[in-house]
Amino acid sequence: MLQEFPTSISRQPGPVVLETERLTLRRPTLADVRAIAALANDRRIAENMRVLPHPYRREDATHFVKSVAGDGANTVFLIEHHHNPVGVVGVDWRRPETPELGYWLGVEHWGRGFGTEAARAAIDFAFEEFAISQMISVARVVNPASRNILEKCGFQWSGVELHRFAALGSSSPVDCFRLTRGVWSSLKNWGHARRGA
Ligand SMILES: CC(C)(COP(=O)(O)OP(=O)(O)OC[C@H]1O[C@@H](n2cnc3c(N)ncnc32)[C@H](O)[C@@H]1OP(=O)(O)O)[C@@H](O)C(=O)NCCC(=O)NCCS
Repeated sequence: MLQEFPTSISRQPGPVVLETERLTLRRPTLADVRAIAALANDRRIAENMRVLPHPYRREDATHFVKSVAGDGANTVFLIEHHHNPVGVVGVDWRRPETPELGYWLGVEHWGRGFGTEAARAAIDFAFEEFAISQMISVARVVNPASRNILEKCGFQWSGVELHRFAALGSSSPVDCFRLTRGVWSSLKNWGHARRGA
């Protein structure tokens, strides 16, 4: 049964593990701190994330893992490929009417479709677990890879806003996107047409 109003506990994946064709998505633990810090400490990632610190130290990763375990405001999955962490995907529930999808991958893992694969799994999890009518996301206008992921997942452009990016020390224009349950459901159920002679 879908949860109407996600509670602070129910938003977290907890023991939930999502398996995709190539990836495993699971809750991060303190054992992952070193790997997360190594992956996230890259300006090319920080410049596209609103709140990711740069440089990104072990303490930042420890704080991140502890906050994920404690506050319940986010659904966060560590993305693994062959048991190696490659990035993070999550849903921010601070505005429950408009849960927001976010993700980043270590730079050496870009360009292999992992971002799309992980985003799709997190989107399915959110729509399947919770009675939400939509999800939103944003991508800097200079971030075509992220825009591409959102469009491939069915998100539709809804406007441009100016958002603050900590690593830039300034604000930057972002494209805003929305995925409604109706579009998600349609894409998931779009079957093959049979061709007759
Ligand atoms: C955005 C990010 C997750 C993409 O991860 P990824 O695994 O490389 O993405 P994918 O391979 O699934 O898909 C990216 C798509 O964008 C395309 N793309 C990548 N770079 C591009 C560019 N410079 N111009 C146009 N398209 C580009 C890819 O070709 C691919 O599309 P395709 O499948 O149609 O070929 C990764 O670059 C990242 O972590 N960036 C920093 C953090 C970030 O931007 N997070 C998102 C914040 S909203």
